[in-house]
Amino acid sequence: MRSFVAETHLSAADLIQPFFVTDGEDRRVPVASMPGVDRLSTDLLIEECRRAAGLGIGAVALFPVVPEESKSPRGEAALDPDGLLPRSIRALKAELPDLLLFTDVALDPYSSDGHDGIVRDGRILNDETLDVLERMAVVQADAGADIVAPSDMMDGRIGAIRSALDDAGHSETAICSYCVKYASAFYGPFRDALDSAPRAGDKKSYQMDPRNAREALREIALDEEEGADWLMVKPGLPYLDVVRMMRESTALPVAAYHVSGEYAMLRAAARNGWLDYDACLLESLTSFRRAGADIVLTYGAMDAAALLRS
Ligand code: PBG
Repeated sequence: MRSFVAETHLSAADLIQPFFVTDGEDRRVPVASMPGVDRLSTDLLIEECRRAAGLGIGAVALFPVVPEESKSPRGEAALDPDGLLPRSIRALKAELPDLLLFTDVALDPYSSDGHDGIVRDGRILNDETLDVLERMAVVQADAGADIVAPSDMMDGRIGAIRSALDDAGHSETAICSYCVKYASAFYGPFRDALDSAPRAGDKKSYQMDPRNAREALREIALDEEEGADWLMVKPGLPYLDVVRMMRESTALPVAAYHVSGEYAMLRAAARNGWLDYDACLLESLTSFRRAGADIVLTYGAMDAAALLRS
């Protein structure tokens, strides 16, 4: 009876599983601060994605691990059509054409400064960065990405990327904007995974101040105006009030990102025998849905999908 009257439902189709992809073959390199998460070479990535599709996961998101020697101040490696990410996208689309592919648009994995934009004299060059982001999105769409997801927080990038995609014949490629992304300390384990932490300074000049909520309304209005197809809030659990606010102020699909640090906390406590990982994961993901998120990105997506099945 409780099930019958439950107000919120969670299913695998609402979840997006992020993956870290690395060079090589048959390579699986664990991320120490994210137990259960590995950096995968493309062949193993395809196997895991096949498993994700079998579990009914809605989509997968890809983040490339770029070797230090390929990083540069302007992140040119992001524009190489034969780079690790475009190659992985093509391989996945060839094997699993129906699995939705979500790719990340931001410079940080490729930047020798560890920033999402181009840095000069300690400042982020917003407008110069837009040009690289536009080309990066087109490279990903050319390779077969279904949804490009700018996570960089430069102003004006949604409109710029939309026009660049349209001009390149990719009018059907969707944009999921990391619309309300906070300058958060919960991204630590993700930066370990990609070795992408800022080499100097922090991301406070482009990511949002955790003290602000009303500012989210301005970000939402701008991204809608510029042509975003989905909007995202990130991190997740500490910002469920913002998820609710976004749900109430847009008709677009709302996504939320249960980020690396949130996942790491659950795993660490479970390892100590202090929390039940399975139960806390399902409770957390259900809370995102209750707060108003249509879609949740979580490193626990496949774990949750398997639990929902059993
Ligand atoms: C950067 C990016 C970050 C995440 C996704 N894209 C980190 C950052 O802004 O420094 C974090 C995701 C996570 O912590 O799981 N473009």
